[in-house]
Amino acid sequence: MESSTAAHPFIVRDCGFGVMEFINTDTVIDGSHRSIGALNILARKFKGVVFSLQPQCRLTPDVGPQLKLISEKTILKMAYQNEAQVPFAHDFAEAFAAPDDAVCSIKSAIVIEKVIKDFADVTPFRTSALNILDMLKQPDISFDKIQKGIIDEPLLIARILQVANSAFYMRRNPVDNIENALAYLGLEGIRQVLVQLIFQSLATKYFAHQKDKLIHGECCAHLAVKLAERKTKDLMTLGKIRVAALLHDVGSLALQFCYLDEYAKALSRAVSEKLNILTTEKEMFGTTHCDVGARLATEWKLPDYVKTCASDHHSIVSGPFDKIVRPVICANAFLNSAIDKLPGLDFSPLAKEFSVTPNTSDNEARMELLAFFTETMKSFTPESA
Ligand SMILES: [Fe+2]
Ligand SMILES: [Fe+2]
Repeated sequence: MESSTAAHPFIVRDCGFGVMEFINTDTVIDGSHRSIGALNILARKFKGVVFSLQPQCRLTPDVGPQLKLISEKTILKMAYQNEAQVPFAHDFAEAFAAPDDAVCSIKSAIVIEKVIKDFADVTPFRTSALNILDMLKQPDISFDKIQKGIIDEPLLIARILQVANSAFYMRRNPVDNIENALAYLGLEGIRQVLVQLIFQSLATKYFAHQKDKLIHGECCAHLAVKLAERKTKDLMTLGKIRVAALLHDVGSLALQFCYLDEYAKALSRAVSEKLNILTTEKEMFGTTHCDVGARLATEWKLPDYVKTCASDHHSIVSGPFDKIVRPVICANAFLNSAIDKLPGLDFSPLAKEFSVTPNTSDNEARMELLAFFTETMKSFTPESA
């Protein structure tokens, strides 16, 4: 950080990711003040600038039009405590009380834009799976239309048959043609298969070097399904839980892919200082893997339960997909503390929902689930290892 002098009555702070904080230290800043000239130069070089005013600092009204022009060159945000410091409207630059919140807001926009851009390049296979997934949202969709949609996709057909015959869908007689597979899996089953195929295609293309994280997703899916099976046998619900768990950390995979070194720093700080990973991600990227995951799920038009799970798996909130998200929350919290050595979420408030012991306390139910997860881990074999 540069210190302010009479010649340069401002301080600039490099916040990373092409974002600068420009801290004004003078008392009155008018349109001809040195700060405005310097800000103009920074705006041309940096993706984002936070224009911060210290408490003694106020702007004059003629600064407004100049800031508007500057906001056309960079993402401009303002940080000040008191409205009297800025005597003009500035809908071109969002205002924050805390400069760090303004920095986070810009970093988050830059990071999410890059992630979306980096994952915009799709393979033909993934595009076709996405198109069919989109097609499944149409109210008048029929098996006939789906069949026509995939007729020229032998690889996709082969994968659908493979999944329809997998242990999870537990078919006694092998399904050997696409008509039977569609009839057996149903629309919801097909949707689940397509989401899995899209994810596997992404995993092969982008996340091959993140084996540990892919295995974490698979293990979370195994534990979450086994936990939910204590209370339901509904195959479609269990299928959704499996898919939601497989993809729950897609935001983390994407952030690591786009920002390998920065993500490693955020992760190692969380492990060494026993901090919540969301806290260290927010400091580093201005956003979290939960927000990035939800954004990608929206971008790829994945089902709403997948998006909700990507966004909410580190918190206990109620919503329409609780039956699907809650087993994932518990399984992920267990894995975070038992395997990843990260502070895991205290899932005690949810534990009783999955306990098989009558009249148990929250804590006893949590202990029961920890023992259950430890035992269930023994039957887990990763596919992507
Ligand atoms: Fe996560
Ligand atoms: Fe996770």
